[in-house]
Amino acid sequence: MANVFVTRRIPGDAVERLAAEHHVEVWHGRLQPSHAKLLEKAGGVEGLLCLLTDRIDRDVIETCTRLRVISNYAVGVDNVDVEAATERGIPVGFTPDVLTEATADATFGLLLACARRVVEGNQVVRAGRWLTWEPTLLLGQDVHAKTLGIVGLGRIGQAVARRGEGFGMEVIHTSRSSGISLDELLERSDFVSLHAPLTQESRGMIAGPELRRMKPTAILINTSRGGLVDSGALTRALERGWIAGAALDVTDPEPVPRGHPLLDAPNLILNPHIASASVEARAAMSNLAVDNLLAGLAGEPMPKCFNAEALAARL
Ligand code: DGY
Repeated sequence: MANVFVTRRIPGDAVERLAAEHHVEVWHGRLQPSHAKLLEKAGGVEGLLCLLTDRIDRDVIETCTRLRVISNYAVGVDNVDVEAATERGIPVGFTPDVLTEATADATFGLLLACARRVVEGNQVVRAGRWLTWEPTLLLGQDVHAKTLGIVGLGRIGQAVARRGEGFGMEVIHTSRSSGISLDELLERSDFVSLHAPLTQESRGMIAGPELRRMKPTAILINTSRGGLVDSGALTRALERGWIAGAALDVTDPEPVPRGHPLLDAPNLILNPHIASASVEARAAMSNLAVDNLLAGLAGEPMPKCFNAEALAARL
């Protein structure tokens, strides 16, 4: 029986399966444990089930000397120092596939909402400002027959591309191995949707020069990681009309603090990082995160291990 720390309550009954085999402590706070608390709680455990809001840095990985397995409740692992984990021979589990379609649905929802001004329409009606049907009220943009630019044609990017094709859009993309250059994609797209992982190379990939390259009628959608976009540059782009609008599920910083300029930017829809938040997807993430942890603790291959190849190469 191993000791496991779970850094937040997760939906479904997967943690009960974990507790049937191991000694489990769950952090019940609504906010994540502080770094000091995390070090304290993870200090004596072999297994850690963490969230994307927990910074599992080299300090945590090297200080928690008993740690044998990390399972991240997310497909993105930018919160985990995977290199440090690999050096210590620790497998890092993640949750791809099970959230792909839910995230793509939400991405397309944001695209449609921004193009067709759904949020503004809701506000106008609720505020009692809708007086009569008008030919020019809240004119938006067509989505069908437009060009959708996918930055990062991985699992989620491909799922968004399928939705775009279903809407009769021309879909273009960048990816590590195929597609067109980012500059060309930005110049040609009516909608730009970001699906690249956050790495040192991709951080700030959409900044002033990139936003200026986009069409003044274009809309930017980000359901990947906030750090891909320079928030200051995006705020200026929206204020100055370099682009027509944006819809962000993720931001930098996240959450956006009160008084941050992004909150006053025009033509911007903001969501609280909920693109994978369907009941079904989040329950499947719980099950996969627990399956990864159980396998790792049993010394077996995880169903979804982010650093499996790197670990194998060390042997
Ligand atoms: C992830 O999994 O990385 C998402 O951002 C949250 O589901």
